[in-house]
Amino acid sequence: EKGGYEHFMLKEIFEQPRSIADCMRGRINATEGRLMLGGIRNYSGALTNAQRIVIIACGTSWHAGLVAEYLFEDICRIPIEVEYASEFRYRNPVIREGDIVIAISQSGETADTLAAIELAKSKGAIVFGVVNTVGSSISRATHEGAYLHAGPEIGVASTKAFTAQLTVLTMIALSVAQQKGTISDVKFRELLVELESIPKKVAKALESDGKIKEISALFKDVHNFLYLGRGYNFPVALEGALKLKEISYIHAEGYPAAEMKHGPIALIDENMPVVFIATRDSSYDKIVSNIQEVKSRKGKVIAIVTEGDVLIPKMADFTIEVPATHEALMPLVSVIPLQLLSYHIAVMRGSNVDQPRNLAKSVTVE
Ligand code: F6R
Repeated sequence: EKGGYEHFMLKEIFEQPRSIADCMRGRINATEGRLMLGGIRNYSGALTNAQRIVIIACGTSWHAGLVAEYLFEDICRIPIEVEYASEFRYRNPVIREGDIVIAISQSGETADTLAAIELAKSKGAIVFGVVNTVGSSISRATHEGAYLHAGPEIGVASTKAFTAQLTVLTMIALSVAQQKGTISDVKFRELLVELESIPKKVAKALESDGKIKEISALFKDVHNFLYLGRGYNFPVALEGALKLKEISYIHAEGYPAAEMKHGPIALIDENMPVVFIATRDSSYDKIVSNIQEVKSRKGKVIAIVTEGDVLIPKMADFTIEVPATHEALMPLVSVIPLQLLSYHIAVMRGSNVDQPRNLAKSVTVE
């Protein structure tokens, strides 16, 4: 059932070219420039006219929401708030009739997310679900929604569900932006074409597995890790850190790279590995200076870079290449080496990667 892989997690990581393609199947046609997302049809007017969208989720799904915030605000010009379901439900949130809530959940059974949905509905919100498990409680509690079609995710650490969530959220954002007229035809088509090419780019990113395994061996005994990214790669830094801590039990923190100066830089010495997600995008020059800041304090830098980058490999201790894509879609690709890094480190430390201690696949209690 593990398809020849040692763990479900590894199988699910390697399945991503296919699960992302499954997620898009029948929904996009880049050649014709068409996007058809059945799950948001009935309430599409409400989405297009929304004054505000609140995204609620927990854990990895919350990280997918953070990526979506950047894209929705950029191309749909709708203010987005991304909330932990557990905070939202207990803080008397302001929700007005007709506000839109998007709930993201792999399992569809997360207790806090479900309770947050009920609260939002009681205040008149229209709730969309971005859910993997068909027929789950959350899929039934929402007004409408789009399934991930990623197939069952068995490993406790979420991997293919995360990339499928990003794919669905991207399709929703593109569809709203097109209807609102807040995206040019050229950019819409460009993003659609790029999205369609993601499975092949993820497959390419997976080819670094051997190199990542070698790097993992050098860091398996450290006690701390820092993950830094900017822009669309900031949530990826959070996700990389979460993946590492949950399965390897190494303390890891994700930060927006520019926030380093406001505290975490004090942690950096020759024993501190820092993973930079430093692909070529609009914040490239800024992140290059952040790498220099870490190197001048003797931190060990592992950098995720765009294929062909010649500058960062001169500064970083280790570089892992991923194919180029539009910056809004880069998280789909840049998260891949981080999933593999956490997997290999955890295996080398002898942890039970598919069922890490203290964790359950569905968190049905708050
Ligand atoms: C991390 C992980 C958790 C879940 C979180 C939400 O790898 O799996 O952080 O993302 O418990 O679960 P769902 O998406 O099922 O609501």
